[in-house]
Amino acid sequence: MTSFEHEPVMLDEILDVLGTVPTGVYVDATLGGAGHATALLERRDDMSLIGIDRDPIARQAASERLARFGNRATVVAGRFDQIAELVAGSGLVATEAGVAPVTGVLFDLGVSSPQLDAAERGFSYRHDAALDMRMNPEDPVSAADIVNTWSHEDLTHLLRDGADERFASRVAARIIDNRPIATTAELAEIVVAAIPAATRRTGGHPAKRTFQALRIAVNEELAQIPTALRDAIDLLAPQGRGAVLSYHSGEDRLVKRAIAEAESGGCTCPPRLPCACGAQKLVTIVPPRQRTASADEQARNPRSTSARLRCFERQAVTSDATSGGAQ
Ligand SMILES: C[S@@+](CC[C@H](N)C(=O)[O-])C[C@H]1O[C@@H](n2cnc3c(N)ncnc32)[C@H](O)[C@@H]1O
Repeated sequence: MTSFEHEPVMLDEILDVLGTVPTGVYVDATLGGAGHATALLERRDDMSLIGIDRDPIARQAASERLARFGNRATVVAGRFDQIAELVAGSGLVATEAGVAPVTGVLFDLGVSSPQLDAAERGFSYRHDAALDMRMNPEDPVSAADIVNTWSHEDLTHLLRDGADERFASRVAARIIDNRPIATTAELAEIVVAAIPAATRRTGGHPAKRTFQALRIAVNEELAQIPTALRDAIDLLAPQGRGAVLSYHSGEDRLVKRAIAEAESGGCTCPPRLPCACGAQKLVTIVPPRQRTASADEQARNPRSTSARLRCFERQAVTSDATSGGAQ
């Protein structure tokens, strides 16, 4: 059995939201070690599940864990912005006949604990290793490629936008001065030296933000979210539900925006008037608008402290909207 220890975040809340959907297929777009997936399949023996992950080590661990569910669980390789073609290609969902509609979708964004903890994957400033950070080792660009080739301007943007690094320009300049950089320890040391001593003593490890921003860039984590959520919402059958867990403000902003767009259907009418523009509202929010982990969970699992959960339910397409909307 592959060792893959990752405690699923906000599991009870996700089971509450996705545990009551109409019979069909769950799509876990970020399968990881299949913690959420296992609990969902245990809760609902009338459901099957397609699990997507771009990381071969996660897929191996998930396949072993899900083996006991037989053909109720299918593990597929790919990125979550390919969700539509991966689900269609799995052969599990007969779209036209609607035999097995997709009625639950889960996104648990970001990295898993084993990705951070496996020193050789080069994700963490805590372990010395080659600077890699690729979730899929076959992807073309590693963290070392970025730190050794990007311009000062691009690195500054990356650190500022990807991780709110106050000293982005200074860190970028130090990186460029110290090229070539090959390992996580070298990079961590360079970042520490770039941050003023007074700031270094507050707010966790000084290299944390740089490593987060690099990881997001290497794996194009933010760029894929809007397409993935739009396609996931399109896949869902009426009354199907989606749940999205994000872990930092950059992710949560994109999730919130994608859900808001589906909720309004692109409606351009004044806020307090009934809709007359024919927009098709695709989802309603499953309240509350956003949830956080309980105090108990936050104390038990530090990873959950920054988690934000947003959930929605798919609406049926009305004939009004399909024929051009209310006029
Ligand atoms: C937070 S972990 C999921 C943990 C999982 N919910 C569990 O209970 O074990 C996120 C997983 O999503 C995968 N992942 C992240 N971004 C992805 C993407 N764009 N496409 C496919 N998989 C992705 C990562 O490789 C990782 O295994």
